[in-house]
Amino acid sequence: MDLETETLCPDAAGLARAAALLRTGALVAFPTETVYGLGGDARSDLAVARIFEAKGRPRFNPLIVHLPDLAAARAIARFDDHALRLAAAFWPGPLTLVLPLRPDAGISELVTAGLDTVAIRVPAHPVAQALLRAFGGPLAAPSANPSGRVSPTCAAHVIEGLGGRIAAVVDGGACGVGVESTILALNPPTLLRPGGLPAEALEQALGQPLATGGDAARPSAPGQLESHYAPGATVQLAMTQASADAVWIGFGPDCAGADLNLSATGDLVEAAANLFAMLRNADRIAKATGKARIALAPVPDHGLGRAINDRLRRAAAPRP
Ligand code: TXA
Ligand code: MG
Repeated sequence: MDLETETLCPDAAGLARAAALLRTGALVAFPTETVYGLGGDARSDLAVARIFEAKGRPRFNPLIVHLPDLAAARAIARFDDHALRLAAAFWPGPLTLVLPLRPDAGISELVTAGLDTVAIRVPAHPVAQALLRAFGGPLAAPSANPSGRVSPTCAAHVIEGLGGRIAAVVDGGACGVGVESTILALNPPTLLRPGGLPAEALEQALGQPLATGGDAARPSAPGQLESHYAPGATVQLAMTQASADAVWIGFGPDCAGADLNLSATGDLVEAAANLFAMLRNADRIAKATGKARIALAPVPDHGLGRAINDRLRRAAAPRP
């Protein structure tokens, strides 16, 4: 594909242009509070097929449907009491719920991979909200990066990975959360992907611990994690000191000699927001200095640290 990818301002004219492109079945990347999404009309087989093609993504992987509010979401999926309670507590925000699909929802089977459930998210970012309202329909939107690579947290990252392959990107600046949404299935409540909403907050709202398990995109055997979020250089985890042949990304105050630091004060929220941009940055430093590895300091495994460690384990997984 060789498109002239437009960069649009998030003003009325830019959003109208983005909505018009989406109505033709074209792809438009847009900011959410987690990462930039690659949006396409979730009702259109052609638009959704273009998403898979632009990302080079395996087709069996189902996509998240983005909607402006709970009322729009209820037209697509069935909500029980638990789902309604979570939607009231955390939407709009970085929580995706996997719910029974309404048979008359009109969502492309390419979005759900033929499952009878659908993943629904109501993003909080004002530009995502404005685009969904201008478009007036459901948007399928995976992260706006080539499959397996680092997710984009600003418009320049989107252009770097998908420029020439998509119609446009709406530039809404840097994403605040920095890691993808938390994905939860219900009956029983099961954490499918740790993400921007800490699992502890869900457990508190539900009054019960979450089961963990079967992400459709993730092999269940440990050590068989799919390579994902991968920069060019090899990634090594749990490094506690600098090393001559690695770019070292620290976390917290005890990382003297680190090339970069996810959060010098040890703040997990700041670290999540910095994660993907720092992986890209470390990759550039590795290239420029001839270092073969990116090494990461240990990150505590609670709150947003769970999402950070999930992404880092995949970035470090063996490449195909
Ligand atoms: O933060 C985010 O969630 C970003 C931004 C752009 O909103 N979006 C995102 O979408 O990460 P995506 O399409 O990459 O997430 C797809 C994942 C699948 O890999 C799978 O884990 C889960 O959502 N998923 C989707 N539909 C599912 C279903 N019916 N059952 C189980 N998991 C599902
Ligand atoms: Mg992704």
